[in-house]
Amino acid sequence: MKNLSSNLLTIATATILLSACHSNPAENHLNPITPTPLHYQADYGAFDWRTNTPLLIDQATDTTIIRAAFELPLFTAPLKVQPRFIIGESGKTPHSIELKRVDTLAFSPSREAYRLAITAHEVTIEAVSDTGFYYALKSLQQLTDPQTNLIRAALVEDAPRFGYRGVMLDVSRHFRSKAFVEKQIRQMAAYKMNRLHLHLTDAAGWRLQIDSYPQLTALAAWRSDSLWKSWWQGDRRYLPEGSQGAYGGYYTKEEIRQLVEYARRHCITLIPEIEMPAHSEEVLTAYPELSCTHEPYKQADFCVGNEATFTFLERVLDEVMELFPSHYIHIGGDEAGKASWKKCPRCQQRMKREGLKDVDELQSYLIARMGRYLEAHGRALLGWDEIIEGGLAPGATVMSWRGEAGGMKALEAGHQVVMTPDEFCYLDSYQDAPYSQPQAISGYLPLEKVYSYDPLPASRDTIPRAKELLLGVQGNVWTEYIPTEAHLEYMLYPRAIALAEVGWSQREQMSWPDFRQRILKKVLPLMEAHGYHPFDLRGEVGNRPEALQSIDHLAKGKPITFRSNYWKKYPANGDETLTDGLRGGWGYGDGRWLAFVGSKRVDVVIDLEQPTMVHEVKADFMQICGPGVYLPAKVVISASTDGETYTPLTEITHQVEKDDAVSFRTYGWQGETTTRYIRYESYPDTTYGGVHFLDEIVVN
Ligand code: ACM
Repeated sequence: MKNLSSNLLTIATATILLSACHSNPAENHLNPITPTPLHYQADYGAFDWRTNTPLLIDQATDTTIIRAAFELPLFTAPLKVQPRFIIGESGKTPHSIELKRVDTLAFSPSREAYRLAITAHEVTIEAVSDTGFYYALKSLQQLTDPQTNLIRAALVEDAPRFGYRGVMLDVSRHFRSKAFVEKQIRQMAAYKMNRLHLHLTDAAGWRLQIDSYPQLTALAAWRSDSLWKSWWQGDRRYLPEGSQGAYGGYYTKEEIRQLVEYARRHCITLIPEIEMPAHSEEVLTAYPELSCTHEPYKQADFCVGNEATFTFLERVLDEVMELFPSHYIHIGGDEAGKASWKKCPRCQQRMKREGLKDVDELQSYLIARMGRYLEAHGRALLGWDEIIEGGLAPGATVMSWRGEAGGMKALEAGHQVVMTPDEFCYLDSYQDAPYSQPQAISGYLPLEKVYSYDPLPASRDTIPRAKELLLGVQGNVWTEYIPTEAHLEYMLYPRAIALAEVGWSQREQMSWPDFRQRILKKVLPLMEAHGYHPFDLRGEVGNRPEALQSIDHLAKGKPITFRSNYWKKYPANGDETLTDGLRGGWGYGDGRWLAFVGSKRVDVVIDLEQPTMVHEVKADFMQICGPGVYLPAKVVISASTDGETYTPLTEITHQVEKDDAVSFRTYGWQGETTTRYIRYESYPDTTYGGVHFLDEIVVN
């Protein structure tokens, strides 16, 4: 009787309090959990999560993981919940949160899945693993009303779409402390991300203690300028550890052990990346005998002909494997120049002996050999999509960054793939109008575009085993232009949370308007309350106004002849790009900007098909100096009635200057002429050269 009356009391209290929950209908219709769960069904009543509500767990449960789930609670309750563990008394305590280990969950084979049943009397969590418990507790926190600590009764059955949901932090270009990395682990895990890839080595600094090669941290971890940009454009020197002006840092082995353990408690695997064969200027200055020419400060690529290179890489990987339990070890593999290999007698000899026909195959030789080494030690090789060039090593997993093409090729060849295409996943790109943002590397990747990414659209069903081989998705933050911790968080959030949902949620459950409101109303306020520095979506400017709608003009859809070729690396909308009525946005990679790199940059002729009265001809160009995109020094616009003899309408010159901005400039003519053919030409500046990008030749 006593129990019954107390239950009745709970229900009565809950009902009253629940009406408080409903006081803000605008928020209540939003999906209550981020990332969107597989299944959520609300019910009547509410569970009152009190300070003394016990958490019942069994002997096998790892309490360090359960405690970790409360380190960054996803609610700001006035009543701070202190989980009270009762181990091994399952079912004996009323009004409890019970964590029940089960052998299987009928709705998903994933070890990360969980079932969460909330009634007015109890909360029951079922999971196959501690990770499932962690994720259920994260969902439970999000379901908790922050004012009242009430949790609306519901049934949640949840499991991830992809097993790999990652973020990459570049801690080479600007070193970040262990405490900062832990702070990001808490945030990522709160939204069920489970891989943190650390880019530990690059020209800008080696970031990991390696006992066999002490110069890596005694010299190669320290540079002469704190800002990557001025260091890279300046002297690019390394300085001995502890010397005056030496900037940088590295993780000691003890710190890595602590980080690995910290991440494990938050259900995150740390994946180390050790770059090879390129991006290794720092190693090849500390140990110049490992480059083709043996000169410090001259080479970025290891000498593949020298056995000492393999001794080095294997010893380094031995120590890396000892520290990181991750199955995947990332070996970089991107952007090798390979120039020194063509002239190096050792590399040439290696190619001859191994029957390698070019330097791409020489790179593949190195990658395959390292793959075998890792495999012999029970690990697997993960590398950027360049590892495909020259033949993909057996067993290698590909991280597709130059779009999805590399990933698709690897999938078709039966390899595992992590999708991280730059267009959708490079979180170092501008997330809003460049003029409103701190300098970024380039691009334009707003939250909505990240959210729109589907790593495995239905069209890929034709690839055998695609669902099994496509491990998931990752967001990358390269930090060349990101010197501070707050700035790094600003680039990460909330975009990483969009990728968390891309990786976890089923497509048909996802909704951009709903997600955007959740970010505005719940995620950002919580992040700010917890001391993070996310981009403020509330003040978003949006895309370049010109790009928002298509335009009509006299040249739209007219035949165009390319007297100079556009650059096939940025083909945009092909031959039609300049006359399709679509203007470009803030980033040259948006498929609306056409690139020209030839000695004569732009040289095109538009045929209006009949003599036409023309008052205006104009085109916009973009400049962003970091990636080498410059405005033209000169544009010539001319007209012809027969397509043979052209009369100049105007010649526009511009004093090109290098700067940090993303800028746009219109090169046009206004007047009155009757013409059939219009020729548009651009010429580069003699000092800066640069790629020319233009989006449309508008004729009025
Ligand atoms: C890369 O962005 N170079 C992988």
